[in-house]
Amino acid sequence: MEEWYKAIEEASSVESLESIRVSVFGKKGILAAEFAKMKTAANEEKAKIAKDLNIHKGKMTSLLAERKMTLQTLELRARMEAEKIDVSLFSSRSEKGAVHPVMDTMDKIVDYFASMNFSVQTGPMIEDDFHNFEALNLPKYHPARDMQDTFYFKDEMLLRTHTSPVQIRTMLHTKPPIRMIAPGSVFRRDYDITHTPMFHQVEGLLVDKEGEVSFANLKYILEDFLKYMFGDIEVRFRPSFFPFTEPSAEVDISCVFCKGEGCRVCSKTGWLEVLGCGIVDPNVFKAVGYKDVSGYAFGLGVERFAMLIHQIGDLRSLFEGDVRLLEQFR
Ligand code: PHE
Repeated sequence: MEEWYKAIEEASSVESLESIRVSVFGKKGILAAEFAKMKTAANEEKAKIAKDLNIHKGKMTSLLAERKMTLQTLELRARMEAEKIDVSLFSSRSEKGAVHPVMDTMDKIVDYFASMNFSVQTGPMIEDDFHNFEALNLPKYHPARDMQDTFYFKDEMLLRTHTSPVQIRTMLHTKPPIRMIAPGSVFRRDYDITHTPMFHQVEGLLVDKEGEVSFANLKYILEDFLKYMFGDIEVRFRPSFFPFTEPSAEVDISCVFCKGEGCRVCSKTGWLEVLGCGIVDPNVFKAVGYKDVSGYAFGLGVERFAMLIHQIGDLRSLFEGDVRLLEQFR
């Protein structure tokens, strides 16, 4: 027996310990063999042999468990040592991409309104006449449709000319109050240094109980928003016309290039037009079946904001995918 105690104590791996265990405790192991001898032993010795063997059995069981724990710990430690990774090593440099200035500007705009509890809504780019025009108080043959040169498909389908149809869709499937913005791509037949056939808008809509929404609320939030976007600038509201709002206004900021002195970018006026807005026309609420509500709406072109923030002269350059331009926005 002694040699088996020694073997257990000297086992050098969990694996060899296991084969020792089998040799001792297995069906054909030494303990089984010793117990078998009892059959031929004299009756008066049987009890003593059994008692001795059971003592050995107990001792070896605990010795095996103890040795197994020790070996497992040692093996784990050796493995950790062998598989260690030096995280302080330098790796090869990877090229860093950049967020496109239009998307970056859009994110900033969305962040502002999200912080004011406006939800972000989206809708299809291929729209129908009802959502893009009719429901927005722009009946067929209304001259104001010319304000937005439209790409038409067959069957009164079209590429949305603004994200206002998202507001119609949202009102059709939710009850007031509403506080939402609709960021997304829009399409118009236009192409020159300040127009591209596809561009991005963020439009906003707030609807609450009749009499709860005023032009002053609209003015406050837009002024706060424009200062957030452009820093220390002046803001002015000019009366204007949109079919879906009444009264309507266009919003100007003091020129970010000449600080209002008058330059080429602001056509010597000192002001830059950046937003359209107004109090939602009752006809729009009628079209979506809203009663006893009031609301305001606004819309802006993201590219225009990006151009003013990053001082980009030609809108088209934003869509040419020239890495020399994009690299400047890392
Ligand atoms: N939908 C208008 C446009 O695309 C922008 C706008 C939205 C103006 C809401 C006023 C109120 O020109």
